This record gives sequence, C-alpha cells and structure tokens, in this order.
Amino acid sequence: MKYINEIIHGDSVEVMRELPENVYDACLTDPPYKLSQKYTTSTDSDNIIAIASIYNVAIELKRVVKVGGLCIVFYDNRILPMVLDAYKKAGWKYIRSLTMYRRAGNAYNMCGWMSTSDFILIFQNGDGKVNFYGKCSHDVYVKDKMEKESFGHPAQKPEWIIEDILQRILLPEMSVIDPYSGSGTTCAVAKKLGIKYTGIEQELEFVNISKKRMEEKKEEKEFEPQTLFNTQT
Ligand SMILES: C[S@@+](CC[C@H](N)C(=O)[O-])C[C@H]1O[C@@H](n2cnc3c(N)ncnc32)[C@H](O)[C@@H]1O
Repeated sequence: MKYINEIIHGDSVEVMRELPENVYDACLTDPPYKLSQKYTTSTDSDNIIAIASIYNVAIELKRVVKVGGLCIVFYDNRILPMVLDAYKKAGWKYIRSLTMYRRAGNAYNMCGWMSTSDFILIFQNGDGKVNFYGKCSHDVYVKDKMEKESFGHPAQKPEWIIEDILQRILLPEMSVIDPYSGSGTTCAVAKKLGIKYTGIEQELEFVNISKKRMEEKKEEKEFEPQTLFNTQT
C-alpha cells in the first residue's frame, strides 16, 4: 500500500490525490486553527489559506477513507462552522463531538496564550453502524498536565487522548491517515498500537521531528481498550 507506515513531506491535498480510493479504515487529524499562529508564515492571510485547506482535505479524505469509516477532527470554536461546512459539503455525516479541556499545554509556553477547550468532531463516511470498542463513560478529556515529552510543536496533542480514541475506533492491523500530522502524534500512537499509518506534513522541520519520533517509538503488543473518554489521572 502506497505511503503506509510513512510520514510524507508535502501538501496533504496533493499527496492524497496520489492515493487510491477506499484504503484507510479511519482518519484522525488536527488541522491548523489558530489564526494568529505561525506555522509556515507569519501573516494571517497565509494562515487563513492554511485553515481553508480543510475544504479540499475533507474531499480527499472522503475518497481515501473506506465507506463507513470515521474521521476524527480536532477543532476549536472559532473555526467550528468552517469545519462543519467543509465536511458536510464533502459528504461526511456528522456523528457527535467530544471535548478536550486543557489546563496545561505547549502553546502556553511557546506562544504565551492558549485556548482551553478543543472539540473533537466525529464524522462518518456514509452510513452504516458505527463501532466503538470498549466500555463507554463520558465525553470530556481533561488535560491537566504538560506532555511528558515535548516535540517542539505548539499544537502537540497528548498521546494518551489519541491512544484512547484510536483504541475506540480501530483494531490492530487496521489503518489511519493524518493529513496534518505535525510532530507525528497520531502516527506514533498508531505504531505503538500496531495500527498502520500515513502522516502528511508540509513543514520539513516537523517531518524530521516525526521521523525521529517514529524510529524511537516501539510497538506494544497489548491493545486493551481503556475506559472511554476518561479524564487523565
Ligand atoms: C495543529 S498542527 C498538528 C499537530 C499534531 N497533532 C501534533 O500532535 O503534533 C497542524 C499541522 O498541519 C500542518 N499543515 C497545515 N496545512 C497543511 C497542508 N496543507 N498539508 C500538510 N500539512 C499542513 C502544519 O504545518 C501543522 O504542523
């Protein structure tokens, strides 16, 4: 399978257009959504263009994710209407949303501010039964500690949350794509869980960080669904 277990340097729409349809069991991604945040450039207009890429990304994801598969998308309330619009126009079906309540994060140290809640939107590619594995409790993750390890990305997501979500929606040997992979959190956790992955990131610096992270990440054989959407203890 093309680009399986790889982090690809490039624009996610262009890279996904090279992929055949119906290949991934799910997508888990975290698009850029901080209007004033510097990713490639320092201007707001460039950042808005980066954010608007979600429209074409949603279309390509619909093509490469299998029918019935889920797409999990992190977003905050400033950009929420845009992501709902983009996914609806691309034909995704909205299922529900979870919340990540953040009391500590890299953004605070690196940018001097941070928002404290992110939504985690769940869409399905078409109809069909949605399978969530394991026990279900509630739908808010509370992140009250800094990451154990910082990979230098202001939007680095906590591995424990990504791990909980991936274990909820996939089984080992299934596959996930992250078209905005940043420092590679989705892919690193997927590797740990024995899930196949593709990450796409436009910034070479973050691609190199992710590749090193992937080399150091070990696959762990046990794959036990944890309590669903529990808080960090
Ligand atoms: C919010 S961050 C992802 C952070 C990631 N979840 C982590 O834990 O490190 C979004 C990333 O998307 C990248 N990006 C933005 N537009 C992109 C595009 N069109 N193609 C590929 N990557 C893009 C940015 O460079 C940024 O690193």
